[in-house]
Amino acid sequence: MKKAKVMFIVLVLILILTSCIRANTPDGTAELNERETKQDNYIEKEDVKTPVEKPEPEPEPEPEPEPEPEPEPEPEPEPEPEPEPERTGPEVDTYNGINLNYPNWKSVIFRDDYLTIVNKTYKLSAYYEPSDLVDVNREYITYGTATMRKPAYDAFVKMREAASAEGLTLNISNSYRSYATQKRIYLAYLDSDSQDNVDTYSARPGHSEHQLGLAADFAAGSRSLYAFNGTAEQQWMENNAHKYGFILRYMPNTSHITGYIYESWHYRYVGDQAEQIKNSGLTLEEYLGY
Ligand code: DAL
Ligand code: ZN
Repeated sequence: MKKAKVMFIVLVLILILTSCIRANTPDGTAELNERETKQDNYIEKEDVKTPVEKPEPEPEPEPEPEPEPEPEPEPEPEPEPEPEPERTGPEVDTYNGINLNYPNWKSVIFRDDYLTIVNKTYKLSAYYEPSDLVDVNREYITYGTATMRKPAYDAFVKMREAASAEGLTLNISNSYRSYATQKRIYLAYLDSDSQDNVDTYSARPGHSEHQLGLAADFAAGSRSLYAFNGTAEQQWMENNAHKYGFILRYMPNTSHITGYIYESWHYRYVGDQAEQIKNSGLTLEEYLGY
């Protein structure tokens, strides 16, 4: 019995020893390694199985808004051709067989800024008379009576006062003239001069800006308008008239534009633009683009 007990203990010891040796053999290591690898694989597989959180995609950048295309500019409408102004006077105004009409005359185009053009082309109706004519103070007239449009007369009075303060006497020889008066004057000249000549210094009826009530012929004191040139009053007017809204209408060397020879006495009220017109050195026709 004692022998059997010893044998059993020895057997157990052998078994334990064998088992220890096995664990430390290369095979044993391999077995262990294999077991570990299997475990790793499992973890790897587990990892693979775990749904990988995909990173949120970068938000697409908002596309830059396309710049609104500049609207095509509306094509400028072709300007309507100016209708030919209606002729308001008689087509042929004759006197004793003399034609008083210029062949290509047109009716005046009225403006409300005192810049209406009346010349050898632009003609006033025989019936045109300004509605705001006022009497010129008799003391300011060389002879007889005279009327003018009120804005021009008021400007003249101020101008006359300024000239008087310098010891000058600026008087009016002629201002508003009706169509009939202009016709009488023009025909009177024709009695003693050729029509070609008269046309260089006297307007045919309807073609005088005196009929506008905005023109005036000036005189020095009681002298004739023809003696105006070279007087202190004439010099003063050249230097100062524009300050009061008046311009010299028929300047020297401009008859090819205005149609008339130099008239040192004939001034035209044009209002606010007088200084600009004078400084331009242009005739009213050129200044206005006629
Ligand atoms: N002497 C100017 C031109 C006229 O008669 O109106
Ligand atoms: Zn005149």
